[in-house]
Amino acid sequence: MPGAVRVAPEPCVTIPPKLPPGGKTQKSSHPPMKSLETTLPPGAKCVRCKGRATIPMPSHNANFCPDCFVKYFETAVERGLKKFPISSSTPLLVAVSGGKDSLAAWNILHELGYATRGLHIRLGIEGFSEASAEAVAAFARERSLPWVEHSIEAVLGFSIPTIHRKMRRKICSLCGMLKRQLLNRLSIQEGYDTVVVGHNLDDEAGRLLGNIVRNRHQYLDKQTPFLPSTHPRLTAKCKPLYRVEAREIRIYCSLKSIRPVELNCPLSRGATSHRFKEALDFLEENMPGTKRDFLFTFLKRRKPSPSPRPFQDCTLCGEPSYGELCSVCNLLALLRKMDQPHPGDVGS
Ligand code: AMP
Ligand code: FES
Ligand code: ZN
Repeated sequence: MPGAVRVAPEPCVTIPPKLPPGGKTQKSSHPPMKSLETTLPPGAKCVRCKGRATIPMPSHNANFCPDCFVKYFETAVERGLKKFPISSSTPLLVAVSGGKDSLAAWNILHELGYATRGLHIRLGIEGFSEASAEAVAAFARERSLPWVEHSIEAVLGFSIPTIHRKMRRKICSLCGMLKRQLLNRLSIQEGYDTVVVGHNLDDEAGRLLGNIVRNRHQYLDKQTPFLPSTHPRLTAKCKPLYRVEAREIRIYCSLKSIRPVELNCPLSRGATSHRFKEALDFLEENMPGTKRDFLFTFLKRRKPSPSPRPFQDCTLCGEPSYGELCSVCNLLALLRKMDQPHPGDVGS
């Protein structure tokens, strides 16, 4: 298998015991969350069980105790999953970056009884990539979950920092395109037809705002938490965390002892996608609930996509493509051209 550098053993999947229902007199099954306990007064009550609330949820105009928070979180994700055309017997390949979102998505799907396998793409970013893979490895080891790692350099011949250096431009959108393409190709190679990604409510709302502000209406069709396959070589893509906020995922990870990578990608500083999320954070702070209203209203009113643009086969790699060459082959051709000596340099 080209590019595969590590495969964990097949696990015997164990489903952890269900959490006890929250209750006033019940001892919490979760460790205390110091940073959150200070934000609510000692008399604050959980809206569900009336026990001591330690987690403020302004966008829901509610406060939760840790047990009821986890219940809320699981219910929100299950509500999303019910809208997808998948069942608990659908094998799911979870794209795991080592960040909080994809690890939380993997955890919840595993706890709900889905047969999951992780797929991590090593990007070759010094320090960040090692730490990311280690976060995935630790998570999988602790839960005896199977995963596989592929290196972008082994698959394409270039690491992300090399592409960044050669292209001399912001790398995030290129990196995003390569990750999307590779996730699709590798998941088919691994025998899956549905891939899970960790995008959350903030990601989706930020992307929606960006597409509207820039008048990119052609992308709005693809802005959906479940993207069905439209070609035999395209996997379906689902986003089980689209109903929960980044902040809620952070809390969930802390309560579930999930330890995501703590570093941010050093190449993504200043990415424009961050600006749209910050704009929504500003609105959310002043008008709690804005972010979810914005996204959910869009999704509710969204018209079914018109028939998809027809694909042709990339003349170099055979993958589905809108043009003669797919976006990966286009980029690789450009990078290889840069490696060739300039005619004027010969003999100098
Ligand atoms: P990002 O575009 O970095 O916000 O990532 C969005 C989602 O893509 C993550 O939640 C993961 O599901 C997936 N993803 C990102 N980076 C990787 C990676 N290196 N390997 C596998 N999946 C990834
Ligand atoms: Fe892609 Fe940082 S993860 S540029
Ligand atoms: Zn191609």
